Order: sequence, then structure tokens, then C-alpha cells
Amino acid sequence: MERAQATIDIDAIAANVRRLRATVAGKAALAAVVKADGYGHGAVRSARAAQAGGADWIAVVAAKEAVDLRDAGITGPILIMGALTPDEISVALGAGADVVAWTPEFLEAVAATAPTGRPARVHVKLDTGMGRLGTRDPRVADALVRRAIEAPELQAVGLMTHFATADERGDAFMPEQLERFLAWCEPLKAAHPDLVRHAANSAATLREPAAHLDLVRCGIAIYGMDPFGEDPDAAGLRPALGLTSYVAAVKACAAGQSVGYGRRFVADQDTVIATVPIGYGDGWRRGLTGAADVLIAGRRFPQVGTVSMDNVTVDLGPDGAGVTVGDEVTLLGRDGDERILAEDLAAALGTINYEVTCGLLPRVPRVTSGGAAA
Ligand SMILES: Cc1ncc(COP(=O)(O)O)c(C=O)c1O
Repeated sequence: MERAQATIDIDAIAANVRRLRATVAGKAALAAVVKADGYGHGAVRSARAAQAGGADWIAVVAAKEAVDLRDAGITGPILIMGALTPDEISVALGAGADVVAWTPEFLEAVAATAPTGRPARVHVKLDTGMGRLGTRDPRVADALVRRAIEAPELQAVGLMTHFATADERGDAFMPEQLERFLAWCEPLKAAHPDLVRHAANSAATLREPAAHLDLVRCGIAIYGMDPFGEDPDAAGLRPALGLTSYVAAVKACAAGQSVGYGRRFVADQDTVIATVPIGYGDGWRRGLTGAADVLIAGRRFPQVGTVSMDNVTVDLGPDGAGVTVGDEVTLLGRDGDERILAEDLAAALGTINYEVTCGLLPRVPRVTSGGAAA
């Protein structure tokens, strides 16, 4: 037994990828986004599981992430979506990864770094409204594509953009961005049919078939979390990450006695308190104080008292509910008929599900469950 551990269900990741591929069936390929250690799930196991589910590409953000995947034996196209320093360019190309360009200076640096006889694979990024990476000027983007087509050290592979509001159903900005993107990329695609047009993240993939184009880049949904912050069940997605700990101590707490830093919980009746050894030092955020439940033996109990670095405390009620030291505690995931979703924790914290799983710290070991890829 671990004091706290995250169990990653790789069958769920594979199933989520299959579900997303069915959505884009016959038209677009799928890139599984495994940046930030697979949104906290482990990049290598997530990439393997995604490939088992039919992912055609893997996408990351940092050059080192691509190297780690290659070192673990991940084959196939890897797209590095993020900005790269000059040093990172050679690391990225050394890993045989695709890079994204949006300035002439960067593209020339890529050309100068490309290994002899192996043209660097380049995607050109138009900023259609995210305002972050990419050029806002379609003429600059055109010139980059032309240069990547003509230079022997370069291979023009993709044309991309990224949506700012895909997760806001019914908003008018994503269609505007898509229109801007299509106005730029359609003539290029007509002239160079092999170019891969890609724009959609998970939300756009689920929301807008017109955004699927040649490739979708799905992150959050492959982990079974809902990009709209809703119940993933409704979208046919299976949460892949379960977080468990155990009951380390059970003790009586008389009416009037307090629990935890700042005495933020004072019992108003005699009750029984379980101490569970997980805290903000594990990524179980202090902001969850008084705002989260746990599951023990299929029953839901409230956390009470301040979340500390290494422990949380749970109110078992006056009869202690038969809970004993060593019982498993589920903080995220399913136990019997009860579930705690990353979306629930995100709502309690005023954040998004992405941050809940990315925020689990290295002190929490990740283990794999399920599947041929285990
Ligand atoms: C450029 C780009 N494409 C795709 C994704 C995947 O997004 P999501 O996790 O919402 O599917 C991200 C993640 O933030 C991204 O930065």
C-alpha cells in the first residue's frame, strides 16, 4: 500500500482515443497531446495507450518531452507545439520531431540546424486570435510555407492554428478564427494537398466537425476529462486517473474539540475523525479545505479542517461508519456507485480539470492499470 497513489487506467485512455477517432472518422487523423507528463498521467504510458487506441500522432510542447518519448521507444510522428530556444531546436530535430515556426528567423535557425540529408519537418502557425504563439499576418505565414517547401533542409508538413474559446459552447469567436484559418490555408492546401491542416483541440473536436480538417490535437479528452467542465460520461469519456490514499488514523473527536491548523473545524457533536496522509505537498490543494469529499467503502464523507501539507482529515460521523485504519480512501475516481470527478474538484477550486491532474506532484507515484500496454 502507498500513502497516496494515482492509478492510470490505460484502457480508458485507449477507449477515449477510439471514441474521438470515431468522431473524426474517415476524415482527420488524431494527435494525442501528452505534454506536461500527459496532463499528470505519465507521458510515456499515455502515449502508448493513445497509440493502442489508434492515435496517429503524438504532440508535446517541449523538446525534452519529445526526447523522453523517443528514449522510451515511442515511434511515429511527434509534433512539438511550443516555442523552442536555439538549443532546443537541435534537441527537437535530434529526436526526429516536427517543429512549429512563425518567424523567418526561427525557420532559418531550423534550416541551419537540420541534420544533413534529413530535412526538418515544419508546421507553420497562423495566430487567428489566440494572441499567443504564431504570426497574425497571413502573408508572413505564406512566406514561411513557401520557404519550407523550397529549402532542401526543410519539409513543409503542416498548417496550424489554435482556438481561444473552443470550450465556450455557442460562442462566435471560434467560428471567426476558423474562417480566418481556412481563408489562409485552403489555397495552400489546394496547391499542396499533402499539407496537414490542424486547428482543433478536444473541445473543438467534440463541438465542431468543420474544425476537424486533416488532424485534431486532443489532450484533455483522451484522459477522460470533459473540455467543457461537464460530466465526462455525457460525452462518452472515461476518466483515466484515480487518486487513492488510506486511513492512517481514526480517533474520537468530542463536541467542542477542533481538528487541524487554525481550528477551522470544531465538532458540534461527538464524532469520529479519520486522518488521510495526502495534502498540498502531494498536489491536493489547500483551497479544497472544507470543499471536498472522499469515498471510503463506497460511501461519501466530507473532508473537514484545513488541508495541510501531508494530511487531510475526514468526518466519519458519530458512529465512525465502521471505518478502520488501513481502509482505502478514494479522493478522485469511483468507489461503488459514488464518483469524484476532476470536474468536481475544479469547480470547488474555481479552476479547470486540466489543473487538477497536472497539479498532482511527484510525491504521488503513478501506477498503471489495465490493458495490453501495461
Ligand atoms: C496548441 C495546442 N493544441 C492542442 C492542445 C490540446 O488541448 P486540449 O487539452 O484542450 O484538447 C493544446 C493544449 O493546451 C495546445 O496548446
